[in-house]
Amino acid sequence: MRRNDKFLILLALLVMFLVYTASVYTRGTELSENNPMLDTAAIQGKVLWQKYNCSSCHQLYGLGGFIGPDLTTTISRKGDAYAKAIILSGTKRMPHYGITEQEADAITKFLSYVDSTAIHYKR
Ligand code: HEC
Repeated sequence: MRRNDKFLILLALLVMFLVYTASVYTRGTELSENNPMLDTAAIQGKVLWQKYNCSSCHQLYGLGGFIGPDLTTTISRKGDAYAKAIILSGTKRMPHYGITEQEADAITKFLSYVDSTAIHYKR
């Protein structure tokens, strides 16, 4: 192999590496655009989920606390009106946060998004 060929192969590898790296770092986080379900409200709901630390008691995808039920498929099993009512009022064992209607809607949308990505086992 001539010296020139080696240089060309190295150059080609370098270009491929740079294109790949640029693509990973610029396109890797475009989840919201690729997924219409995770709209602005659902993203706000996710932020509220973190702010109120709901996962200290609840699991999503099996990760989180064990004081309350896993909420991954709550929306499809019990409906969003039910979930929203509990989020707004709390229960004997779940705190009442003084969450607003708009916040409860956002959290419910986030939970709907999670539900849409879940694996639904037949019971
Ligand atoms: C201190 C623990 C605790 C925290 C924190 C908590 N929850 Fe709960 N949650 C519970 C418990 C326990 C239940 C089950 C109802 C009951 O037994 O009172 C519940 C029930 C629910 C339900 C109904 C689930 C079902 O399948 O019936 C939803 C929806 C829910 N919580 C959402 C939330 C959200 C959203 C947050 C954060 C804003 C949150 N919870 C924070 C303890 C908690």
